[in-house]
Amino acid sequence: MRRWLAVPVLVALAGIAAGTAYVDWSKGGEGAGLYSHEWRPEPVHGYWDPDRFYQSVGTVEGRFDAGQCIDCHSALTPGIVADWRESRHSAPPRRAPVGCPDCHGADHKALAMPTPKVCARCHAEQHDAFLSERKYGFPSHALAMERATDSKHYVDKPKAETSACLQCHSVATKCDSCHTRHRFDAAEARRPEACTTCHSGPPHPDDEAYFASAHGQRYLADGSSWDWSKPLVRGNYPAPTCAYCHMRNGRHVVADKSIWQFGLRQVNPGTAENQVKRQRWIEVCADCHDAGFARERLAELDRERAVTWKTLDRIERRLRDLRGARAFYPRAGERPPYPSDLIDTLLPSERIGFHEGQASAFYNVSPIERDHFEVWYFANLAAYKGAAHGAGSLVGEAHARISAAERAIAAQAATLDGRAAGARPDPSPLWLDGEYTRHNRENN
Ligand code: HEC
Ligand code: HEC
Ligand code: HEC
Ligand code: HEC
Ligand code: HEC
Ligand code: HEC
Ligand code: HEC
Ligand code: HEC
Repeated sequence: MRRWLAVPVLVALAGIAAGTAYVDWSKGGEGAGLYSHEWRPEPVHGYWDPDRFYQSVGTVEGRFDAGQCIDCHSALTPGIVADWRESRHSAPPRRAPVGCPDCHGADHKALAMPTPKVCARCHAEQHDAFLSERKYGFPSHALAMERATDSKHYVDKPKAETSACLQCHSVATKCDSCHTRHRFDAAEARRPEACTTCHSGPPHPDDEAYFASAHGQRYLADGSSWDWSKPLVRGNYPAPTCAYCHMRNGRHVVADKSIWQFGLRQVNPGTAENQVKRQRWIEVCADCHDAGFARERLAELDRERAVTWKTLDRIERRLRDLRGARAFYPRAGERPPYPSDLIDTLLPSERIGFHEGQASAFYNVSPIERDHFEVWYFANLAAYKGAAHGAGSLVGEAHARISAAERAIAAQAATLDGRAAGARPDPSPLWLDGEYTRHNRENN
């Protein structure tokens, strides 16, 4: 009897070992992430993720000291030298200047593009705080790079479209996202514009939400007269900017308060962990508002989420019913498969909603699934970001879009008829082996 027990245990152990080996293999390709075998890096990737991909130019030979770098680069890249001269690095109090070789190395045939580790040599506090975000999981700045490269749609789309992903998701792999090179100015990072280069666009309209809020309006009205050299602590600013709220006291952590996270799935806002996070939010607001006022505004956000999720759940159920009736057209299995996704190839199934794998909702789906994606990914997230930031106009507009989408999806569903599917032309030749699909496969 006991001996038989050993069989499932051994099978499970072998399964775990095989799974680990498979993940190691899948990350071992020329690219990065879970689909590293499906794409090849271009030279530009060296700037987004220098640790992995940067290779020095070899056109100039020799070792140089800081003065020589500046002499030559004053003619070659005058903007860089001018920014550096204006930065604290060129004349820090109580120490020698931080020159070009401190960050890039002195050997011009073996230049480095500085990763966070390079900055950590002198800024351990910011670097450690930044890395500590990993414990909060997704989303967070520290994990942003793997989040992008581990997504299926990262390799499903042509490379020309996905290179841009890393421009934003490189917030994890270099430190010049908010205080840009070579000025490295803390004052720049305190302003909302430092964040909105990335925090904008339909899935995360944080810029729209902030600038439509009372806080953003106050910033627009008189932010130009605020003293930006002051750190982001209580008493220094009349109204908050992104970093004031999300990087409290200048701490390099944005993920420690996030209750609803990206807004893509329903959460229970009342868990013990979320109570702790809520308290952290209230402490931020209490720099300027009554704590009771802040608590009430956060409760309002929870109510907005509850209403929106009720509608989204209804829409999701309708999609599941259609899947049950095999009514999608074209169906999973009739579309280009996801590379490396064995399960999708063997057991094709339409994936609906966050928990079944959001990638499928992006591209390569039937029209009604795409409509579901747009309401869930764009309108829902606009409603969340509007409510989170006190932008009533954005919430109203997004709720109107959600209602309109529900009606449109219902109307479309009525025209789809599962039984008629067999009579339709087989879409596989077009989808599985079309020009677009072939081009993607060959050019990633
Ligand atoms: C004699 C002139 C000269 C000197 C001295 C010099 N550089 Fe350069 N540097 C160049 C040229 C030319 C390029 C462009 C090379 C290319 O694109 O092939 C360049 C490019 C660079 C780049 C960009 C590399 C890339 O991949 O984008 C960095 C960084 C750089 N230099 C840093 C330094 C540092 C640090 C020093 C001092 C240790 C230095 N340079 C000294 C001429 C010089
Ligand atoms: C405090 C660190 C630091 C110092 C000092 C520094 N750099 Fe850089 N440099 C960076 C970072 C960060 C990047 C961007 C890396 C990336 O894109 O991955 C960069 C990129 C570059 C690039 C390539 C990208 C571009 O914009 O063309 C050049 C060229 C360059 N630096 C030249 C210089 C020169 C010349 C000096 C000295 C005047 C200098 N750097 C001093 C941090 C530094
Ligand atoms: C060799 C040490 C050294 C390295 C490497 C270094 N820094 Fe600095 N950094 C300094 C010093 C010194 C100061 C000035 C501190 C002060 O003013 O008290 C400074 C100041 C700063 C400031 C504040 C500027 C302001 O406006 O107050 C920022 C931001 C900054 N560094 C970012 C970076 C980043 C990002 C990197 C990596 C790309 C980096 N530093 C690499 C030494 C370094
Ligand atoms: C270079 C692009 C870039 C810049 C600049 C940037 N972010 Fe982000 N941020 C991202 C990306 C990408 C993610 C999502 C990471 C992921 O998928 O896990 C993110 C995630 C976040 C999150 C979500 C964390 C969570 O747990 O929900 C917050 C909050 C945030 N950023 C705030 C800021 C603030 C505040 C600023 C400006 C001070 C800023 N970001 C600047 C790219 C950027
Ligand atoms: C304009 C900058 C930008 C671009 C371009 C961009 N992202 Fe993002 N991405 C973000 C920000 C900001 C967030 C998270 C914001 C939040 O929490 O609201 C995010 C979130 C995500 C998330 C979900 C985060 C999570 O952890 O749940 C994934 C996955 C993702 N991005 C992948 C990609 C891929 C793949 C691409 C390219 C097709 C891409 N992104 C292009 C800025 C960008
Ligand atoms: C999401 C935006 C963002 C990113 C990414 C970021 N910083 Fe900062 N950084 C800020 C803000 C905002 C401030 C100003 C904080 C304040 O006012 O107290 C700042 C200030 C600093 C300062 C000056 C601190 C002081 O007290 O003068 C240093 C040094 C610094 N950052 C280093 C880093 C390093 C190293 C990294 C990479 C690990 C990094 N930063 C990445 C937003 C960012
Ligand atoms: C008054 C403080 C405040 C300001 C200013 C602010 N936010 Fe937020 N932000 C919030 C609150 C509160 C939430 C909801 C957080 C939650 O669900 O726990 C939020 C949510 C977010 C999220 C979703 C991730 C998360 O932490 O839950 C991102 C990303 C974000 N804000 C970015 C920004 C950006 C970018 C700006 C500036 C353009 C900005 N915020 C300005 C308070 C602020
Ligand atoms: C640095 C100061 C500061 C912080 C921090 C701050 N606020 Fe505000 N807030 C203001 C100012 C100033 C106004 C505009 C004057 C007013 O209406 O009270 C404002 C206005 C508002 C309004 C619109 C006013 C109304 O009655 O509808 C809301 C909502 C709001 N804040 C919520 C928050 C929340 C929630 C937080 C924390 C996540 C927060 N604020 C953090 C300064 C701040």
